[in-house]
Amino acid sequence: MRIKTKKIMVVFGTRPEAIKMCPLVNELKSRNNFITKVCVTGQHKQMLDQVLESFRIEPDYNLHIMKENQTLFDVTINILDKIKEVLDYEKPDLVLVHGDTSTTFVTALAAYYNQIAIGHVEAGLRTNNIYSPFPEEFNRQAVSIIARYNFAPTINALQNLMRENIDRSTIYVTGNTAIDALRTTIKQDYKHPIIDWAKGSKLILITAHRRENLGEPMRHMFNAINRIVSEFEDIKVVYPIHLNPIVRNLANEIFSNNARIRLIEPLDVVDFHNLMNASHLILTDSGGIQEEAPSLGKPVLVMRETTERPEGVEAGTLKLVGTEEKNIYDSFKLLLTDVNEYQKMAQSNNPYGDGFSSKRIVDIIEKNFWSE
Ligand code: UD1
Ligand code: UDP
Repeated sequence: MRIKTKKIMVVFGTRPEAIKMCPLVNELKSRNNFITKVCVTGQHKQMLDQVLESFRIEPDYNLHIMKENQTLFDVTINILDKIKEVLDYEKPDLVLVHGDTSTTFVTALAAYYNQIAIGHVEAGLRTNNIYSPFPEEFNRQAVSIIARYNFAPTINALQNLMRENIDRSTIYVTGNTAIDALRTTIKQDYKHPIIDWAKGSKLILITAHRRENLGEPMRHMFNAINRIVSEFEDIKVVYPIHLNPIVRNLANEIFSNNARIRLIEPLDVVDFHNLMNASHLILTDSGGIQEEAPSLGKPVLVMRETTERPEGVEAGTLKLVGTEEKNIYDSFKLLLTDVNEYQKMAQSNNPYGDGFSSKRIVDIIEKNFWSE
C-alpha cells in the first residue's frame, strides 16, 4: 500500500508573521517527507515582500488583498473569499498560521470550515482584554478553540491556554520562532549609514502602529518623544515608519523639522535587527520587538496599556509605560539620566527560547503524522 505524502500549507500575510514563519518554512522545506506550500494573503504588500526577499522565500500563492487604508471588514472578507479556492485546490492536511492578525484568524476560520487541521504558532499569548490589542486579542483567542496543535512559545502561554480548558494534548511549548530569525540576522561587523550618523550620540529606535493607538494615543507618544529630543542633545532618534498612512501623516506632522530625528522607510529585517542591536534604547508599541529586545539586552519602553509578553517584563528588559504623554516622558527621561535604572533593564535575558523553535515544531508535526 502506498502511503499518501502529507501536505502542509503555511499561511501568513503581514511583516511580523512573515519574520516568524519564514524560519519555519525553511525548516519544513529541509525535510523531504512532506510537501510544503506557502500561501501569503498579501495583507501587507511592501513590508511583506521585504521579509520574503530577506529569507529568499517565493510563495506558491499570493492573494494580493491589501488596499490603502483597509478596514478589518475589507481584510476579513477578501481573505475568506480568496483563500477558499486555494484550500479547495490544494487540500492540505494541515494549515499553519501564526499569532494574532486578521490573516491568522480568517485563515484558521477558512481551514475550520473545510475541516482541515490547524497548527497555531505562537499560541497562548493573552492580555485577557479583547480591546487591547484590538483586534489581536480576539483573533488569537478564537484560533485556540479550533487549533489541533497549539505551539506555545513559553510555559506562561501554555498556562494561559490551560486556564481556558484547551485540551492539554494539543499544546506544545516550543520557544518563539522570532529567536530563530534573530539567530540568522545579527552580524557583529554590521554597518549602516544611520549608525554612522548617530556616532557619538545615543541612538534611540522608535516604532509604532497599533490600531488602538491611532489618533490621540499616538499623538501623546510622539509629543513625549519630541519633548525629550529637544531637551537631550546627546540623543539621535531613528524611526522607520510603518506604511499605514494614518501613522505616516502624524509622524510627519509631529517630527519633521528636527535634525536629530530621522524618519525613514520600513527597514528590511536584517537592517532592523542590527539597528536594534546598535541602539541604546527602544520605544515601541510592537509585539515582536518585545520578544527580540530581551535577547539583545536592549531596554524597551512599551507604549501600550497592556502586554501579552509578560516574560520580557519579568526578565526586566521591558517596561510598560502606557500611552499618556507624561508617563512616557518620565520613563524615557529616567532611562537617560539614571545609569542604574538603565543598567537594570539592559540585561540580556531571553525568555523566548534558544533559536531552534522551528525545528521543534516540525519534529512534533512529523512525529504526529507518522503515528497517524
Ligand atoms: C497588521 C495587524 C497587526 C500587526 C501589524 C504588523 C491586523 C488586524 N493587524 O496591522 O496585528 O501588528 O499588521 O505591522 O491584522 N500598508 C502598506 N503597505 C504594507 C503594509 C501596510 O501600504 O506593506 C498600509 C496600507 O495602507 C494598509 C495599512 O497600512 O491599509 C494598514 O495595514 P493593516 O494590515 O490593515 O494593519 P496594520 O496596522 O499593519
Ligand atoms: N521590523 C522590521 N523593520 C522595521 C520595523 C520592524 O523588520 O522597520 C521587524 C521587527 O524586528 C519585528 C517585526 O518587524 O520582528 C515587528 O513587526 P510590527 O511591529 O510591524 O508588528 P507586531 O510585532 O507589532 O505585530
